[in-house]
Parts: sequence; structure tokens; C-alpha cells
Amino acid sequence: MAKSTLAFTCMNCNASHKKWVGRCDTCGEWNSIKEEAPLAAGPKGKTLGASKGRKLALGDLNTVDAPLERSTIGIDEFDRVLGGGLVPASAILVAGDPGIGKSTLLLQAAAEFARTGKKVIYISGEEASSQIRMRAQRLKLTDASVKLATETNLRDILTTLEEEAPDLAIIDSIQTMWADHVDSAPGSVSQVRATAHELTTFAKRKGVAIVLVGHVTKDGQIAGPRVVEHMVDTVLYFEGERGHQFRILRAVKNRFGPSDEIGVFEMTGCGLAQVTNPSELFLSERDIQTAGSVVFAGIEGTRPLLVEIQALVAPSPLATPRRTVVGWDTARLSMVLAVLEARCGISFAGKDVYLNIAGGLRISEPAADLAVAAALISARQDIPIASDTVIFGEISLSGALRPISQAENRLKEAQKLGFSAAFTPSRMKLSSESGMNVTKYDAVDAFVEHHFGSINEE
Ligand code: TYD
Ligand code: MG
Repeated sequence: MAKSTLAFTCMNCNASHKKWVGRCDTCGEWNSIKEEAPLAAGPKGKTLGASKGRKLALGDLNTVDAPLERSTIGIDEFDRVLGGGLVPASAILVAGDPGIGKSTLLLQAAAEFARTGKKVIYISGEEASSQIRMRAQRLKLTDASVKLATETNLRDILTTLEEEAPDLAIIDSIQTMWADHVDSAPGSVSQVRATAHELTTFAKRKGVAIVLVGHVTKDGQIAGPRVVEHMVDTVLYFEGERGHQFRILRAVKNRFGPSDEIGVFEMTGCGLAQVTNPSELFLSERDIQTAGSVVFAGIEGTRPLLVEIQALVAPSPLATPRRTVVGWDTARLSMVLAVLEARCGISFAGKDVYLNIAGGLRISEPAADLAVAAALISARQDIPIASDTVIFGEISLSGALRPISQAENRLKEAQKLGFSAAFTPSRMKLSSESGMNVTKYDAVDAFVEHHFGSINEE
């Protein structure tokens, strides 16, 4: 028999080590190595051999399958992120920081789905049924026929689901579940991997849609192994900033729909409320006509979204001035600063730079480059940008402005919200300007020259 050796696995990155160490040399995390039971290995050196397997039935690409049937949950923002509703027999991971509102969102989704006549089971490994009932009372969901249980033993859960055959089962959370055939603690890599595997295969086999709740580590990864992300059909992140009431449900992987869609919610005293016009919300606290404040017309998934970008530039006492970014990419900010310095002669040396996307939103579009540049120079020169204006455009390293996608949608949204002017890249074919006064620029230096004149170094 093969000698059974212990395996040591990093809870953060899933790397395996021969012996226990204090710090994982793959991801650099401290104190994340746990001892795990080794995977059962087959006899050494044995190959599949010559014995034959079964011949597979091969299909064609042009076979017409029945269209995917989906059932809407009844919360539009949630359904949109799923790609138009819940697909039966699919496994969905909803991940987010502790306390962000995952249980609240899923209890609301469970109740709405049950109200459409579907059978829903909510299994919590974290809260007692009485706690969940208290929350349901607060959210005024007690009339919905959601079945509850508090359990962490996977074998019992699977038996229950098999006998009850619900349309949707919610498992809150995957880190608290344990399978008795795996010899390690709940939340460990082997347990999370095994329970997620059992639950996803159960979903496929029995046609039950299963939602797994997953906690995220402080650096934004799903705690334990990322393998759960590969196993499930859909991965949704529920995110938001502490201290802000906005919550964003973002699809990062979706086998049944677009993977860049977002749903916007607001955490209120009685649960999560849908935000049907997010731009209005994100702009509602805007300081009109302040230097350093610019409105960016962005696109999130299929939906235009206007957000305020705020910049502050202040003299720095530090040898290496601060570059602090909230809601945008730090590397992208460095690039924009370098282009402004090299192509427009505007230096930020000796100055601290702070950049903030208002409302706790995180944007990743390169189309925000020009808006960021405008906010930075506006803050540096203390000259406000007209408050009725939106800005978008990608800046290339040469300083040229690149055309971006869905310009018409961005302009239409801006016009709807009362903006009357836009600054955009020039090489864009616009079929309609939506009645906006659009000023186009070839390069970022032309934009700077037009709005701020020639900037002399003091
Ligand atoms: P919860 O859903 O328990 O978070 P998670 O499951 O992601 O850990 O949400 C907890 C937070 O939400 C808690 O700080 C209180 C807040 N909350 C509200 O503000 N309003 C509400 O109606 C509810 C139910 C919770
Ligand atoms: Mg919870």
C-alpha cells in the first residue's frame, strides 16, 4: 500500500507544501497553512492500460437543443445579473465580505421566488432558524412559503433536498458545511472543495438550482480554494463599501448569460431595495462646480451608468508623494499621470494625488481615462469643469484619445439626467448625439489646451 503522507495546503491560494511553514511562499500569506488528509492516490506508476472504455456518442455543432428555460426570481436587478432569470439545474456562487448583506439578499430572493409559486429551501449553517425568522419579519417576508433549516452536515442536507425536490436551494454558507467522508474541518480547502463538488453535481443530477454563499478574504478572494469558482456555472460578487448604502451584485462568470452585468441595490432599514436608476443615485450627493469633480459616463454590463470622479491634488511633504485611489486601478492612475507629464508637460511631482469614485462604486473601464485626467488637472489648477458636462474616452500612451464602445448609450443616459454637453474622443462614429453638445478631441493635449489654457509650471 502506498505510504500515506500528510499534505499541507495554503487556505488562501491552495498551494500544497511538503511541511508546515509559517508563511506560504506562493502567495505570501502568513499563518494560512493547514494540515489536510492526503488525497487517496492510485497505485504508483500504473497507467490506464490497454483495457478499453466505452465509446462516446458524439454530437454535432448544429444540433438544435431546446431553448434554455429560465424562471425569473422576481427581483429585476437579480434576474438581470443572472442573464434573465434562474436556470434550473445550475449552481451559483454568491460571494462577498462578511456583513455585506448576502444572507439578506438571498432571503429576499428566496421569498420572492417562493411567491411565484416555486418551492424554495433555505439552509443556514451560520444562523439559527429563529434568527432567520426574525430577519424575515423585519423584511416583511413571513408570508412567503420558504422552508428553513439550520444544518451543516452535507449528507443530511442532500437527503433532505433529494426528498423535498425544491426548485431552488440556498446554502448559506459553503464555508460552514462539512462532508463526513472528508477528514478535515469545515472551511478547509478539502471540505469546501468536496461539499461544493457534491452540491454542484447534485444540482445537475436532480435539476435543482443551488445557490452557494461564499465568504471572501480580506484581499478579495473567495476564502479557501478558488476551485469553487471553476465548479459552479455562475459566480456573482456582492460588493459595496462599508459606510455606503449601495450594494452591487456583479456577475464575474456566467455560463448562461453576460458576465459583466451588474445589479444595484440600496441597503435600507427593511432590507435591500432595488435601484432602478443608479446614475441618479450615484450623482445625488454631487458637489456642483467644485474643482476636481467630473462626471464620467460609463457602461456597466448593458447599462449606462453616470458616476462622479473626484480628485484632490495637494503639495506633498513626502519624498515619495502619495497616490491614493478608491474605486479605480492604481496602475491606470500612474499611467494617466505619466501621459499628462510626458505629453502635456503637467507634472504631479511633489504633489499628493487622491482619486475617488463617489458612492463606493468600483469602475474598471479604460473609458474613464479622460474623465480622470480632467479631474486631476481641474483639481491641480483649481478650475472646475462645467457641471452640465459628462466626459469619456480612453487615453493611449501616445496621448491620443481612443474611441470607445456604446458612445450613443452614454450620451443618451447623460441627456436623460439633464446633462447638455460631452467631451469625447474624435474618431468615433456617432449615429446620434442625443441633442447633446458634443466636443471631440484627437488627443489629451488638445483637451487640456482648450479647457485649461497653457499650464505653466510654478
Ligand atoms: P447579512 O445579510 O447578515 O450579511 P452577510 O450574510 O453578507 O454576512 O447582513 C448584515 C448587515 O446588513 C448588518 O450589518 C445589518 C444590515 N441590515 C440592514 O441594514 N437592514 C436590514 O434590513 C437587514 C436585514 C440587515
Ligand atoms: Mg450571512
